[in-house]
Amino acid sequence: MNIVILLGAPGSGKGTVAGKLASENDGLKHVSSGDLLRGAVAKGTAAGVEAKGYMEKGNLVPDALIAQMIKDVVAETTGDVTMLLDGFPRNLAQAKILEEMGAPVKSAVLIDVPDSIIQDRIAGRRTCPKCKAGYHVRNLPPKVEGICDVCGEKLVIRKDDNPETVKDRLVVYHRETEPLITFYREKGLLKSVDGTIGVDNVAAAFLKAM
Ligand code: AP5
Repeated sequence: MNIVILLGAPGSGKGTVAGKLASENDGLKHVSSGDLLRGAVAKGTAAGVEAKGYMEKGNLVPDALIAQMIKDVVAETTGDVTMLLDGFPRNLAQAKILEEMGAPVKSAVLIDVPDSIIQDRIAGRRTCPKCKAGYHVRNLPPKVEGICDVCGEKLVIRKDDNPETVKDRLVVYHRETEPLITFYREKGLLKSVDGTIGVDNVAAAFLKAM
């Protein structure tokens, strides 16, 4: 097993690209820290109860809480698999925790999208609460409005996708997560793709870069 880290602002397309590539390529596994946390919140586990307030405000949940979830997924992933790790690490402390896990990081790929595009991306996002497929009302609409193409579930708007929380998430991204770009560049692991060129083109560029 090895790991490809997805870096990028909220709404840059990390989940869209990783979901698409994992569904089209055997041997790629998409692991999203946000989906793990939203799953825990929905189930009402102790971790979910603790995480909920942080997530609704657009803040990072405590490092130890999310690190334990990632450790569990890494431990259960064996064989010839490349894990597309979306949303973790989110700060330097988490990057060090990942190193301590001994998980082999093959590359860290930044999906580069300017802040000016992010609000529109997130305002139009619709998500399937059941299978986690992601859509955009204009850029990537489902075949039937409001219904998931994959599993037929009714699509929802994420609670943290309101304009005020998105502003806060961007502040947190620039302060906490952006330093990881330098961190992985200095290790010779950083790649970057233009995230503004349409989903299929971004996914193809990502696959080449990783
Ligand atoms: P998380 O779920 O990880 O949210 P995020 O990083 O803010 O990223 P998003 O899911 O918002 O965006 P994305 O880049 O996946 O974009 P998407 O593909 O959907 O985290 C949520 C919260 O959980 C955090 O705020 C925090 O509280 C907590 N958390 C998670 N991980 C944590 C950690 N490690 N430590 C601490 N706390 C943590 O695309 C967005 C939209 O754009 C979609 O509608 C899509 O259809 C559209 N789109 C995508 N690509 C394109 C394209 N190329 N062209 C046009 N439209 C596109």
